[in-house]
Amino acid sequence: MKTINLFFLMLLILAFACTKAPRQVPVMDASTFGGQVDGKKVELFTLRNAKGMTVQITNYGGRVVDLWVPDKNGNFSDVVLGYPTLNGYLNSHEIYFGTLIGRYGNRIGKGQFILNDSVYKLAVNNGPNHLHGGIKGFNNVVWDAVRSDDNTLLLSYLSPDGEEGYPGNLQVNVTYELTDNNELKIDYKATTDKPTPVNLTHHSYFNLKGAGEGDILDHVMQIYGSYYTPVDSGLIPTGEIASVEGTVFDFRTPTAIGARIGDDNQQLKYGLGYDHNWVLDSNGDSLHKAAKVVEPVSGRIMEVYTNEPGIQFYTGNFLAGKDTGKNGKVYPYRGALCLETQHFPDSPNKPAFPSAILDPEEEYHSICIYKFSAE
Ligand code: BGC
Repeated sequence: MKTINLFFLMLLILAFACTKAPRQVPVMDASTFGGQVDGKKVELFTLRNAKGMTVQITNYGGRVVDLWVPDKNGNFSDVVLGYPTLNGYLNSHEIYFGTLIGRYGNRIGKGQFILNDSVYKLAVNNGPNHLHGGIKGFNNVVWDAVRSDDNTLLLSYLSPDGEEGYPGNLQVNVTYELTDNNELKIDYKATTDKPTPVNLTHHSYFNLKGAGEGDILDHVMQIYGSYYTPVDSGLIPTGEIASVEGTVFDFRTPTAIGARIGDDNQQLKYGLGYDHNWVLDSNGDSLHKAAKVVEPVSGRIMEVYTNEPGIQFYTGNFLAGKDTGKNGKVYPYRGALCLETQHFPDSPNKPAFPSAILDPEEEYHSICIYKFSAE
């Protein structure tokens, strides 16, 4: 009897030892991250899934601070640019690392629009134009945060009537969820008491080799969009919806980002590289795959799903090696890419684009999923 018990005990110990516990990644210390902004406490929250994927998010701007993703051999790297402390973000040249963006993602021409016969003048912060919600966009506010479980963080912010020039009190609720399918899911909801433009997005700078590990020109990109919206020299859409067919904007078949980025093309010159909105074939009807990025050496893959009609593909053309982030790594020119799900830039001034106006009786609901795998 005793021998049998011992046998089972040993079997149990063996079985336990063989179960692959998710690897712990070297996350940042939440107790040394924060501080205060506008008299509100800035904190760092850690979400983990059953596979060991880990994301840290701060309520200052709703920023994704680090995101640990496995490669084809199960080795984890942090694939987003950012800083180990609040001070890093406050002193950065690039102000949108990992942030939530609102009230309006991307540009509104001349910082103004007409809605129901009234002219609204917005804060101007990008030449003569309004970019990413203005001087104090949602990237610069401290959100109220509730961690509802190991995988989920709820962020909310009430943007007051008139903020950065926008009409209406806008209540915004954003949920970040890390699923056991290795998806970072961002769910945006908003309601207003006056009609207002709303276009919320997320601005992580991704490098699937790892943050600070060179540029992203070797990443292979696929975008599920047959049209894009060409821009003028100030990166405001001209209003044209142009076919990608036969152009450097055709990413319908997987193509290395660097393959054509240096081509003699007026649109690439305006953007200093890719910095354009693609019109997704899904048309924003329901949740669809919008883009897929593969990093051939690590084998990491990121797929983006959204219910939005557009996606901004930006190749970090304004990064210039001026920012030194986590682990003392310098972030070089084109050292990361952004894939921002969205309504089209300057929609409030482009009646032919899908409307980005939210009315008081409606609820805004936008979804963006960054799904990671490796092969
Ligand atoms: C825009 C770029 C801008 C960048 C700021 C992107 O979403 O499209 O033009 O420079 O954000 O980091």
